[in-house]
Amino acid sequence: MQDARARAIALTAGDPDFGRELMQRYGCAGCHTIPGVPRAQGKVGPTLQGFAARVYIGGVATNSPETLIQWIENPRSIDPMTAMPITGISRAEARHVAAYLYTLR
Ligand code: HEC
Repeated sequence: MQDARARAIALTAGDPDFGRELMQRYGCAGCHTIPGVPRAQGKVGPTLQGFAARVYIGGVATNSPETLIQWIENPRSIDPMTAMPITGISRAEARHVAAYLYTLR
């Protein structure tokens, strides 16, 4: 667990704890089931459980830190057809969220 956290920080230069908080603020929790985030049991989008091991993001782009940060900030810049909306989260904030998602194994 500690290893996963260190690795997530190294990959993103983000703060996973802050990222977890941001996911409640920006409504991610309303659409996604996210382990470790209170009341995050949304079923609109896929569960983010085990996200660190996911090969593709949204089924279209290879899962890498920079692509994930871009997806979180503006998913439609990666897949114009995706149902996931732009939430208004900034790129800097998306980095912290990416850090948290990469702790999920
Ligand atoms: C209105 C509902 C909604 C909101 C709000 C939302 N998402 Fe999504 N999200 C989706 C849907 C639907 C998909 C599936 C998209 C696709 O496959 O095209 C998705 C896909 C994703 C994926 C890719 C998952 C995978 O396994 O491929 C990630 C990561 C993600 N969302 C993170 C977030 C984060 C972080 C937030 C908050 C900033 C957020 N989402 C807000 C609906 C939402």
